[in-house]
Amino acid sequence: MTRVVNLRSDTVTRPTDAMRRAMANAEVGDDYYRDDPTVRALEEKAASVFGKEAAMLVFSATMANLVSVLAQTSRGHSVILEESSHIFNNEAGFLAAFGGVTPRTVRGVRGRMTPAQVRAAVFPRAVLHPQTRLLCLENTHNAAGGCCLSLQQVQGLCGTAVSLGLKVHLDGARIFNASVSLGVSVKELTAPADSVTVCLTKGLGCPVGALVLGRQDFIEDARRWRQVAGGGMRQGGVFAAAGLVALDTMVDRLAVDHANARRLAVLLAEAGLHVDPPPEEVETNIVFAEVPEELMDAAGFVSALGLKGVVVNAPRARRVRCITHHDVSADDIEFAGACVREVLAVGATRTSVS
Ligand SMILES: Cc1ncc(COP(=O)(O)O)c(C=O)c1O
Repeated sequence: MTRVVNLRSDTVTRPTDAMRRAMANAEVGDDYYRDDPTVRALEEKAASVFGKEAAMLVFSATMANLVSVLAQTSRGHSVILEESSHIFNNEAGFLAAFGGVTPRTVRGVRGRMTPAQVRAAVFPRAVLHPQTRLLCLENTHNAAGGCCLSLQQVQGLCGTAVSLGLKVHLDGARIFNASVSLGVSVKELTAPADSVTVCLTKGLGCPVGALVLGRQDFIEDARRWRQVAGGGMRQGGVFAAAGLVALDTMVDRLAVDHANARRLAVLLAEAGLHVDPPPEEVETNIVFAEVPEELMDAAGFVSALGLKGVVVNAPRARRVRCITHHDVSADDIEFAGACVREVLAVGATRTSVS
């Protein structure tokens, strides 16, 4: 069988054997009536791990972000987000489509906004302006290259939000990656946020699901919005069972993905790609690299790499993203590095001949 190393995303993982067994044997009920014991067990466990009053299982991190924003804003309000955040760019415009809220974006450095930028992005209280209600943070930040917001940065931004009368939603789809990388518990990292999204299908390897966490009254509102979005579930215990396995077995091992990402960044840089953030600043499992124009055409690079069995997404401009995960080993990373070198060597020969 041809070897395939899929670096498109950490969402491409297959459920582990333990997850499949737990799913097959899950005790279930109808979650609409709140009598699915496995869903309740997952929600209670997550609430305890995060030190929040309550949690709710939803189908995806996008749905978790959606219901969190809908539960904390009304039509005509404004939300502050980092310019390259996932919610603003990659969630099909739900802020406008469902929320009727005005996004106010701020350009962060490596995805990090400063308290001063947040203060400046709040609309003045006047009849002319939308009222700013919510600050959205993303930790880790996908498009910035998996960068973490430190505990101090989270506390600074959330403190500023409180002083401005704003609620804070944290898109923590990869919050466990941040926690492992920083050596700070998810409880501490998310403590100042009013609502938190946690994805189960990324580094944690589940086939479906995400969690929303916050105060009990917020979760009750979010549950109603989940119903509005068609996200109510019945025997959800079938996939909640995988979530329980993930919380028990898939968190500490994220350090392996981070080490693999850093090694990959080194290999890509050695092969001649422009890695940004540079290898020594790769904090979690995401690596971005630009294919220099003089070396090769980026689309050609990606398709030649694919023919060798190393899969990455189509490039944006000249920028290619690689994400490490449970189904990629240290040996796979060496293989991927060797393939990149071969592809670029052929590309360079072609360029010098033409
Ligand atoms: C930071 C962040 N938030 C939310 C999401 C949405 O996740 P999903 O597409 O699984 O709903 C993603 C997906 O990549 C993400 O990277």
